[in-house]
Amino acid sequence: MLETQNLTVRFGGHVAVNSVSCRFEPGTLTAIVGPNGAGKTTYFNLISGQLPASAGAVHLKGRELTDLSASARTRAGLGRAFQLTNLFPNLSVLENVRLAVQATKEGAHRRGLNLWSIWSDHTQLTNRALEILYSVSMTAQQDAPVASLPHGDQRKLEVALLMALEPAVYMFDEPTAGMSHDEAPVILDLIRQLKKDKTKTILLVEHKMDVVRELADRIIVLHNGELVADGEPGEVMASSIVQEAYMGKAKVAA
Ligand SMILES: Nc1ncnc2c1ncn2[C@@H]1O[C@H](COP(=O)(O)OP(=O)(O)OP(=O)(O)O)[C@@H](O)[C@H]1O
Ligand SMILES: [Mg+2]
Repeated sequence: MLETQNLTVRFGGHVAVNSVSCRFEPGTLTAIVGPNGAGKTTYFNLISGQLPASAGAVHLKGRELTDLSASARTRAGLGRAFQLTNLFPNLSVLENVRLAVQATKEGAHRRGLNLWSIWSDHTQLTNRALEILYSVSMTAQQDAPVASLPHGDQRKLEVALLMALEPAVYMFDEPTAGMSHDEAPVILDLIRQLKKDKTKTILLVEHKMDVVRELADRIIVLHNGELVADGEPGEVMASSIVQEAYMGKAKVAA
């Protein structure tokens, strides 16, 4: 379970995230909604460690992460999808995924210059990478350099890299932003697929209400950095606080 307790960050006098306490259970997809500037991305930054908190705490499976770096939090099981920044454009699709798989198998490559062990590691890493590519339907592109892929496939590959890290928590911040009409459903399919694994906790910041309605088991609403609503999707969407504070101002209300 992921938990934030009184998580807060101040920028000068502005409190961008204000004492947000919330628990996120495995097997649950929580949509985080709220108007532009509500603090959703900042809340993600505080959880994943991109930004240090001014106050409060973050725990994952009982372990306090608050003072850990972003990379230490990734190793602890927090998986944040970043758009394209993690890809090696000149390497093939398979090589990118294999590197991500390798990153999770700490130590395997440090066993010294034992050629048998290096070869056997390599085969295992490749097999795992192929498995992941299969699950995101990218087997056909395995040898293509990443730079040659259409934008939608690159975004899909980002999710594949995240899957390679086998995180306990998946965090998506507007995953279909900037994608074409044809590309967006592919990413949503991957999220649907991740949802089937009941050991995973998924957090999704999303403005598109049809997506939220379909995928969310629970919705929390941030407004001016504060958690103002939390509950079942139907209940939260119907609440007056959402109708007033959010629905009228959403970037995309459809
Ligand atoms: N590094 C920073 N320094 C100063 N102010 C910041 C910083 N990061 C975010 N903010 C401010 O914090 C507030 C929350 O921003 P945030 O990006 O979290 O909103 P958001 O809910 O993700 O909005 P959107 O829906 O537009 O993505 C905004 O007022 C923003 O200007
Ligand atoms: Mg944002």
